Amino acid sequence: MTRLVILISGRGSNMEALLAADLPVEFAAVISNRATAPGLQTAAARGITTAVVDHTAYADRAAFDVALMTEIDRHQPDLVVLAGFMRVLTDAFVHHYAGRLINVHPALLPAFPGLHTHERALAAGVKLHGCTVHFVTPEVDVGPIVIQAAVPVLDDDTVDSLAARVLAEEHRIFPQAIRWFAEGRVSITAGRVLLRPPTGTPHALISPPLDD
Ligand code: GAR
Repeated sequence: MTRLVILISGRGSNMEALLAADLPVEFAAVISNRATAPGLQTAAARGITTAVVDHTAYADRAAFDVALMTEIDRHQPDLVVLAGFMRVLTDAFVHHYAGRLINVHPALLPAFPGLHTHERALAAGVKLHGCTVHFVTPEVDVGPIVIQAAVPVLDDDTVDSLAARVLAEEHRIFPQAIRWFAEGRVSITAGRVLLRPPTGTPHALISPPLDD
């Protein structure tokens, strides 16, 4: 059984989506860099081992990442899942988990890497926005893409309404990506993720829709 360690920093709704998805995985631990992360309570209530590695207790990013790696490796994960983990990771950390570190990002990468993605999507006037699950590489929000979901940006959208529409799709694609990984269906070739066997071909997403 694929052993998962999930890293969170806050609410943990993506973590909850994973816990609820009946995945063929073992949840080895949920670790947060913030002791106050509400998601820790959720995980503990489900009987999952939790831990805190508080980034403010370390002199620098490198020292924090070493402590975090030590805690993660105690749980011997096959896959480390960043579910709203809001820390930039060192190259050493990313290399240590190469091919077994996966993230959900609230934008259609490579558009809008980094923070404030919904504000930036609204400001850019895009008609489609969305979310991405991708493997993590040293450059932030750049690694091989497993799955993306696009949502329309509506004329009356606010940051909150758009964020909610995107988050609902995060909760659908993140469990799917991890299921594929656990089933051994995911490989990376020349920076692209291939799914074997493939699941079919989606239709075009057009926003606003055509007249006919
Ligand atoms: C999610 O929208 C996730 O995509 C985003 O933080 C939110 C966490 O929500 N992650 C990033 O922005 C990472 N750069 P959650 O704690 O309810 O899952």
